[in-house]
Amino acid sequence: MLISSSLLRLRRSVVSVGAAAALGLCLAAGSAMAAGGAGVPLDTFPVTKLNDKAALQNGAKLYMNYCLGCHGISQVRYNGLRQIGLSEDIIKQNLILTEAKFGDPIRTTMPLKASAEWFGKAPPDLSLTARSRSSGDGTGADWIYTYLRTYVPDEARPTGWNNKVYPNVGMPHVLWDLQKAKSPADYDSDVADLTAFLAWVAEPVASTRKQIGVVVLLFLGLFFVFAWRLNAAYWKDVR
Ligand code: HEC
Repeated sequence: MLISSSLLRLRRSVVSVGAAAALGLCLAAGSAMAAGGAGVPLDTFPVTKLNDKAALQNGAKLYMNYCLGCHGISQVRYNGLRQIGLSEDIIKQNLILTEAKFGDPIRTTMPLKASAEWFGKAPPDLSLTARSRSSGDGTGADWIYTYLRTYVPDEARPTGWNNKVYPNVGMPHVLWDLQKAKSPADYDSDVADLTAFLAWVAEPVASTRKQIGVVVLLFLGLFFVFAWRLNAAYWKDVR
C-alpha cells in the first residue's frame, strides 16, 4: 500500500515534469516564430555541407579574405580551426591575415567606433549569428545563406546596394567580385561553404554533441530491455 501510493506520487510528479517541459517547448517555439524575418521566404541551406571538411575549410578561407576585415568571430580561436581539419602550418601561413598569434581569438582589426560612423552601424561579431538569426522562417544558416545571395543594386542607398532579407542594410555587397567571377551555381556553393563555416563557428561541438546523443539513445534502448526483464522477474511471484 505504502509502496503503491508513493509510486503513484512518483508517477504524478513525472507527469507534471513532462507537462512543464512540453509547455516550455511550446513557449520556445512561439518566441522563435515571433522573431521571423522580413517576410521573404528563405532558401534552404544545404545542411550536408556541415559534415564536409573541404566545404568548412573553403568557408574559413573565404571568411578570412572577405569578412574578417569588418567582423570578428571572437568566440573561436585560430588554433580551434584544427577541428575542421586544418594543420597548424596552414592556419599560420594562410589564414592568420592579421597580427594575431595562433592561440588568439579571431578578432577583426576594424575600429568599432569609426566603422559605426562609416556604415551607420558597427559590424557585429558573427560568432553566434547562425543561431541568433534562426526564426519561424528557417534556421540561422538559412538566413545567412539567403542574405548573401539576395543583394540588389540600389542607387538610393549610400553603399549602392540593398538586400531582400535585410532591407536597407548598412553592409555593402562585399562578395560582388566573387559573384561576378563565378557561375551562379559556383557562387551558391561558395556562399554555402561560408555559411557552413559560420554555423560551425556558432556551435563548434555540434557534431560531437550529436554523436554523444546517439550513444546515449543506444544505451537507453539497451537499458530499457534490462529494466523491463528485471521488472518482470521481480513481480513474477507477486502476480
Ligand atoms: C566593409 C565592412 C563589412 C564587411 C567586409 C562585411 N560586413 Fe557584414 N556587416 C557589416 C555591417 C556594417 C553590418 C551591419 C549592417 C546593419 O545592421 O545595417 C553587417 C552585418 C552583417 C550580417 C547581419 C548580422 C545580424 O545578425 O544583424 C551578417 C550575417 C554579415 N554581415 C555577414 C558578413 C559576411 C559573411 C561577410 C563576408 C563575406 C561580411 N559580412 C563582410 C559590414 C561588413
